[in-house]
Amino acid sequence: MRYSRIVATGHYLPERVLTNDELERMVETSDAWIRARTGIRQRHIAAPTESVAGMGERASRMALETAGLAAEDIDLIVMGTTTPDQVFPNSAVIMQERLGVAGIPAFSLEAACSGFIYALAVADNFIRAGSAGRVLVVGAEKMSSIVDWNDRSTCVLFGDGAGAVILEHTQTPGILDTRLHADGRYKDLLQFPSGIASSKARIAEDALQMKGSEVFRVAVAKLGEEIVETLARHDLDGNAVDWLVPHQANARIISAIARRLDLPMERVVLTVGEHGNTSSASVPLALDLAIRDGRIQRGDLLLLEAFGGGFTWGSALVRY
Ligand code: COA
Repeated sequence: MRYSRIVATGHYLPERVLTNDELERMVETSDAWIRARTGIRQRHIAAPTESVAGMGERASRMALETAGLAAEDIDLIVMGTTTPDQVFPNSAVIMQERLGVAGIPAFSLEAACSGFIYALAVADNFIRAGSAGRVLVVGAEKMSSIVDWNDRSTCVLFGDGAGAVILEHTQTPGILDTRLHADGRYKDLLQFPSGIASSKARIAEDALQMKGSEVFRVAVAKLGEEIVETLARHDLDGNAVDWLVPHQANARIISAIARRLDLPMERVVLTVGEHGNTSSASVPLALDLAIRDGRIQRGDLLLLEAFGGGFTWGSALVRY
């Protein structure tokens, strides 16, 4: 049998940190409100000159260096992003050029905050099918470019960054399972409504729109079902999970999911306080940081999950 496993990870966070105190001066909000409702203390914001492909490249180079590999050793790039630099070339191709590996296939996919889990599932399936041997999987986002900085109900939530994972073929399973879902009936609850082919003209004030409390309710319900079902497929429960590496949208959503698994918060990787919601970048960023600081060890069982606009959601069960 052919499987895939995680060889190495990397991340990139822009230098500029935007604190809750600074946000207090921009919109009618408070550090206390943001912390209590979301757990967020600060987020990183990309410079105007920083691109999604550039942030992805930085994260990818860190992963390659950690693995002791050259970019030439990669034979496919899959990137999750909701904030592509251009409509085309897709951001994975722009990043491929920056990495100097002309010729290999490279594509980005759009699944809002579930983008990385979708990209990981695609990469795992390419490897299992024998269509690729070593895949660079990236989540990279410049959410600061699509939020309305006058809308306190959304602008306090998001941040920028990138995470990268190198997957490689193996005989013994690393990625044990991936499950993806979508339900377009919820499309109006979380959206960036204009697009190239839409009848609505792109207007300057167009921005991410969200019905936060409804998103919260559905996210907790769908993710709760998802992780319980994923573990049940393998005759496992929360006890077997060494680390939950969740999408980092809101600390309250994350703790509700951990409770559903009876998993103590000591076994949950929590980065939302420092990063905010970095959409597709949030899971690989959290994964890389917990590997780098030694919390996640080789052999640990990891449960990755994400939820985003669409709605889209999914999970990955991983033996690291
Ligand atoms: N600062 C201060 N007050 C704010 C605020 C802010 N930044 N944003 C909203 N409020 C106010 C609202 O205007 C509302 O005031 P009102 O009662 O006078 O109308 C009040 O706070 C409560 O708003 P509500 O939206 O009901 O709060 P909430 O407890 O649901 O928390 C979110 C808001 C956005 C933090 C929460 O709903 C959430 O996290 N939802 C999920 C979002 C998410 O994860 N999205 C990404 C999915 S990938």
